[in-house]
Amino acid sequence: MSRSVLMLPGDGIGPEIVAEADKVLKKVNEKFGLGIEFEQGLVGGAAIDAADSPLPDETLEKARQSDAILLGAVGGPKWDGLPMAKRPEKGLLGLRSNLELFANLRPAILYPQLASASSLKPEVVSGLDIMIVRELTGGIYFGQPRGVRQLESGERQGYNTYAYTETEVRRIGRVAFEAARQRGKKLCSVDKANVLEVTVLWREIMNDLQREYPDVELSHMYVDNAAMQLVKAPKQFDVIVTGNMFGDILSDEAAMLTGSIGMLPSASLNSEKQGMYEPCHGSAPDIAGKGIANPLATILSAAMMLRYSLEEEEAAQAIETAVSKVLDQGLRTADIMADGGRKVSTREMGDAVLAAL
Ligand code: NAI
Ligand code: MG
Repeated sequence: MSRSVLMLPGDGIGPEIVAEADKVLKKVNEKFGLGIEFEQGLVGGAAIDAADSPLPDETLEKARQSDAILLGAVGGPKWDGLPMAKRPEKGLLGLRSNLELFANLRPAILYPQLASASSLKPEVVSGLDIMIVRELTGGIYFGQPRGVRQLESGERQGYNTYAYTETEVRRIGRVAFEAARQRGKKLCSVDKANVLEVTVLWREIMNDLQREYPDVELSHMYVDNAAMQLVKAPKQFDVIVTGNMFGDILSDEAAMLTGSIGMLPSASLNSEKQGMYEPCHGSAPDIAGKGIANPLATILSAAMMLRYSLEEEEAAQAIETAVSKVLDQGLRTADIMADGGRKVSTREMGDAVLAAL
């Protein structure tokens, strides 16, 4: 079986970190006989410079043909002056909307080797391993009508619409139940069903779906409480599923519990399990070209790609184990040096993961 993976390095540190993930993916491809074919493409500022568009037709076409995409990051000061519609970020948004990548999966894992990076007490956060599943293409960020209007009183009013269809809730719910099934079998659905009708429907559909997943334990929590609980006792969670806006906020909160932006991968999936995988961080223009960026978030994104889009769990785990091993060996890029260890470059970190594989 042949599968294709599109590599989109993008801007800033993007090419440096994607090069390391590329080495790792090619190694497991060979080792596990995965039959992956690799394509390259331009996105973001790199695409603006070469083809005058953050998402050239050629890239979109390659993306449509691929089973999965591995993206570095886009953006940087060079393109900051451009109008909104022509900026590098439009490349990312264009891929999300054109491929209907409605399910955003963001794990927050605290590696025991990096325990002191967290701002929480070790006993509260050690061993943390949670997954936030955020709906990404609906909810209040996309609802119509929206805008700023003039009221009869002469005063202006800003307004947005919060809406979810049953289909939208059901499909994100399925992704979350499936993820929970592969992990600790606990799913917490976060809503505001005491105030918002949208989430009354959301809750009803999650309860309904639960009958298809009797092995997964479902609970519900109001979003304000969830925000508190994430800081108070984060280890009570396994998988959290929530809408676009609540997920935006809670996923950043959860990510920061681990304290290390260079370690956090993400996935965005559609209903065909096609996905775009990328680190949670940006293009880090302040350190671009210096060879010091942490490639592990991108390498761990490649592991998520193997798990969710290519369904190669064994290969995914091999990468995750290799990452854990290099941390055990005390190898650290500059961003994760808080506990000491041996300082390595981007490339040395990638090489160490290869060796551990
Ligand atoms: P950023 O995540 O790029 O950088 C924040 C800080 O974290 C910087 O000090 C950076 O050096 C550090 N950092 C980030 N990734 C790192 C890594 N792998 N290893 C070591 N240190 C790392 O966020 P910032 O500075 O707000 O944005 C910079 C640019 O990236 C902007 O143009 C922004 O629009 C873009 N961006 C792109 C994203 C994407 O492509 N998905 C997401 C967020 C920002
Ligand atoms: Mg955000």
